[in-house]
Amino acid sequence: MNVFEAIQTRRSIKKFTDRAVSREEIERLLEAAVQAPNHRMTEPWRFYVLGAEARRAFGTVLGGRKAKRVDDPEAARAVIEKVAQSHADLPAMVIVAITQHENPEIREEDYASAMMAVQNVSLAAHASGLGSHIKSGAVMNDPGARAAFGVPDDQRVVAMLELGEPEAQPDRRDRAAATEWTVWRD
Ligand SMILES: Cc1cc2nc3c(=O)[nH]c(=O)nc-3n(C[C@H](O)[C@H](O)[C@H](O)COP(=O)(O)O)c2cc1C
Repeated sequence: MNVFEAIQTRRSIKKFTDRAVSREEIERLLEAAVQAPNHRMTEPWRFYVLGAEARRAFGTVLGGRKAKRVDDPEAARAVIEKVAQSHADLPAMVIVAITQHENPEIREEDYASAMMAVQNVSLAAHASGLGSHIKSGAVMNDPGARAAFGVPDDQRVVAMLELGEPEAQPDRRDRAAATEWTVWRD
């Protein structure tokens, strides 16, 4: 698969098969991640590969946040257990965090680099028959989630990557043509 094909056919994968993702596969994807462009070569990325126990701990935190919207205590407990179990069942989950440089310009560049690293993982996963789903949101800053990830206080979590063999290829989410957003100037 060439890179254009990988870009055109990559989709966010919401359901994975039960096939485990090996340590070697994850290491290969993270080697692709660290090839991302990186101004000043700060290498800001830090990766936390979560095992089933850590995924369950994170799912319990995420479920707890969702359960706050549920009045009935039993139903709330069921929400927490469902989200915890669905995370424990994921084939693989990688947390991407960054170091936080004292210079705000470098911090912004570092964030950009880390997200390019995330894209490298998504494309490399797709090209090797795996699927990925980037997740984000306020839960990334939840102290309970950070504890589940094992991220130190001085790092910022920028993405949560779910990985596995796709159960199905979702429909393409059409974008407007780039010409819609492009201005050519003499
Ligand atoms: C920075 C970032 C954060 C994302 N966070 C979430 C998320 O929290 N939950 C989710 O379901 N999808 C999330 N996504 C995936 C997008 O929703 C997805 O890329 C979009 O729907 C387009 O679908 P596609 O990736 O299949 O083309 C995120 C994507 C990016 C780039």
